[in-house]
Amino acid sequence: MFFLPGTHKEHGLAYSPLKALVSPRPVGWISSQSTDKIANLSPYSFFNAIAELPPMVMFISAPDAREENKDGHKDSLTNILKTGEFGVNIVAMAQAEQMVKTSRNVTSDIDEFDLAGITKKTAEKISAPLVAGAPAHLECKYYDHITLPDNGRGQHSVMVMGTIVGIHIDDSIIKDGHVDIKVYQPVARLGYKDYSAIHDVFELTP
Ligand SMILES: Cc1cc2nc3c(=O)[nH]c(=O)nc-3n(C[C@H](O)[C@H](O)[C@H](O)COP(=O)(O)O)c2cc1C
Repeated sequence: MFFLPGTHKEHGLAYSPLKALVSPRPVGWISSQSTDKIANLSPYSFFNAIAELPPMVMFISAPDAREENKDGHKDSLTNILKTGEFGVNIVAMAQAEQMVKTSRNVTSDIDEFDLAGITKKTAEKISAPLVAGAPAHLECKYYDHITLPDNGRGQHSVMVMGTIVGIHIDDSIIKDGHVDIKVYQPVARLGYKDYSAIHDVFELTP
């Protein structure tokens, strides 16, 4: 099968297969807070680490079609552009269901930690709270953003980049000086509503 982007339905594919093809993707569980100090927490799987030195991450905020968000920005993006900081909370299998709950479309006056029953952990270098119980956290300062091309409806996704200024790792996931991901089983996003947790690890030497 070969098709041009946007024509999947004409080829018997009910949904765009892109996310299923580019998978598994890590989930950046992004915490931020508004200028009114209301905490926000949402998962982003167009997310990755993009540089080691200085250590940097990025995520993509798709356009928000909600009436009240005239600029088309999701709440995380709005908060980060205003406060200049955010947290990335690593999602373990134990918190997968809570993570998905925080993807609900709620208004910016609602604390999404409370909504999903998540306790806040205080960060060291940023004011935004972190997710207690997560196996690791990256405290980030906003670096820059890139507005991606028009999606054909006058809306744009935005790539947000941040520099990691602090790293927390739960001691329980460290074995022999290595992070042992089999202990916490990171959750990855596949296509559709599918997820995967990493159980099997193998080593290859170049
Ligand atoms: C696992 C998962 C991954 C997601 N990844 C993205 C993403 O990469 N970009 C995006 O814009 N929305 C993504 N979403 C949807 C957002 O989490 C959702 O729109 C959320 O309500 C945004 O919240 P906010 O307005 O508080 O930032 C994802 C949802 C789930 C469940």
